[in-house]
Amino acid sequence: MTRPLISISGLYKHYLVNVPVLKDINFSIASGEFVAIMGHSGSGKSTLMNILGCLDTASAGHYYLEDRDTAALSSDELALLRNNLIGFVFQGFNLLSRSTLLDNIALPLLYAGKTQAERHAKALNMLARVGLAELGERLPNQLSGGQQQRVAIARALVNDPKLILADEPTGNLDTKTSDDIMKIFIDMNTEQKITIVLVTHEPDIAAHAKRLILVKDGQIESDTRT
Ligand SMILES: Nc1ncnc2c1ncn2[C@@H]1O[C@H](COP(=O)(O)OP(=O)(O)OP(=O)(O)O)[C@@H](O)[C@H]1O
Ligand SMILES: [Mg+2]
Repeated sequence: MTRPLISISGLYKHYLVNVPVLKDINFSIASGEFVAIMGHSGSGKSTLMNILGCLDTASAGHYYLEDRDTAALSSDELALLRNNLIGFVFQGFNLLSRSTLLDNIALPLLYAGKTQAERHAKALNMLARVGLAELGERLPNQLSGGQQQRVAIARALVNDPKLILADEPTGNLDTKTSDDIMKIFIDMNTEQKITIVLVTHEPDIAAHAKRLILVKDGQIESDTRT
């Protein structure tokens, strides 16, 4: 039996004492799934994504990632797990404004200790995959929002993650650009079997996923496969 990639049980999160933002969350996600998470603003989606990405820790409960109890790992071990396993695409892109697109994309490879030659080759390849092959030496502010988002996706994918965590990756983008970006996610999921967890406010975007988790007031309201 293959164990789920993600397994969460009895998970709580509170920032302020006695004000839980996440309450008794239980679910698992198998390798290769494509999951959309929806819910009202403030319901706890980004908080959950930060915990899934090992950027934040739960206040109570368990989170097993690839069978590892994340609560038992040191911050160095969590960083290693994050760098080797997870690609992040968060809203706002978080691109480094003074670095070229190629350097932005290559950043996870730098953390992973890859050589300059390997970083350059892989970053160039990813830039081409998101349709921006000619623009490698530009700076992020010389791109449109949709192009910047594609660069963020290229950066998320460059180190061959098993898991992509995307928090509103198509927020503020027009329909055509959103469709282009969703196509990249769908291809990653179907061709490379990369597990995708994607937060969105848009039903059209969520419809691309094979499973929908609805979050309401810090709890899972429903969890359905489509
Ligand atoms: N660092 C923090 N300290 C205190 N409260 C926080 C912190 N981060 C988030 N919260 C609170 O936790 C709740 C959930 O926030 P979260 O960002 O997870 O919501 P969300 O579902 O992602 O909303 P949105 O759709 O607007 O992005 C909100 O009430 C928010 O104010
Ligand atoms: Mg959010």
